[in-house]
Amino acid sequence: MIGIFDSGVGGISVWKELQDLMPNHDFVYVADCAYCPYGRKSADEIIERAKKISEFLINKNADIIVVACNTATAAAIEYLRSHFSVPFVGMEPAVKPAAMESKNGVVGVLATAGTFKGSLYLNTLTKFASNVKVIEQIGDGLVELVESGKTHGQEVELLLQRYINPVIDAGADKLVLGCTHYPFLIDTIKKIAKKSLTIINPAPSVAMQTQKIIDENNIQPKSYGSNIFISTGNIETMKMLVHTINPNIVEQNFISYNI
Ligand code: DGL
Repeated sequence: MIGIFDSGVGGISVWKELQDLMPNHDFVYVADCAYCPYGRKSADEIIERAKKISEFLINKNADIIVVACNTATAAAIEYLRSHFSVPFVGMEPAVKPAAMESKNGVVGVLATAGTFKGSLYLNTLTKFASNVKVIEQIGDGLVELVESGKTHGQEVELLLQRYINPVIDAGADKLVLGCTHYPFLIDTIKKIAKKSLTIINPAPSVAMQTQKIIDENNIQPKSYGSNIFISTGNIETMKMLVHTINPNIVEQNFISYNI
């Protein structure tokens, strides 16, 4: 079984890629909606939640856990890898492909405050982005909009304009989505970005990396592929977003549970 978790519904955008790639595997997705957002929580608070959720997934027989949250990866992946024996895959800030492909030498990264503070992001900058200018934009409020089911409309557009326009004005030609909630805003992001910015979503590469680790560990699918979605809080937005991707997932597969 492949366990996945996020602070909320954002990681559903990663589940989509994983499920497309490995439809015969079983997935259990945990949305920590009761504690969302993680973006401005302390690293210790995030580690505590990541630990509890990982324990829960391992007790449910997870063979591998995908931390489908940039903020939780930044704060907790080292801790999780040193405390549990199952493999963990985290979200990589896609600064490397953005820097390599940028023609203008300017790239934008839209992420939470927690992701920008993490050593993973800072190391990626040092390793791969020394030859480009990186415009960091904190997307305060965007996670909350997606969590409340608002992925389109004026409120979304105004906030995204506030964050993306300065990136365009700075001459960037790439925009990295550094938070798994943001792919749900892709229509509006593209509308604002027009032709000047190419959007980079790291989720497909993370799914490929997960498949590679699954193959290396010889983890075989045991059934024809099941999908369970658990929320520690509100479950309605998760149902709505999952159904936009796969309308066949039945009501019983959505569970509210206190972790
Ligand atoms: N999806 C999470 C991420 O990728 C959102 C973090 C939050 O809850 O603020 O960073």
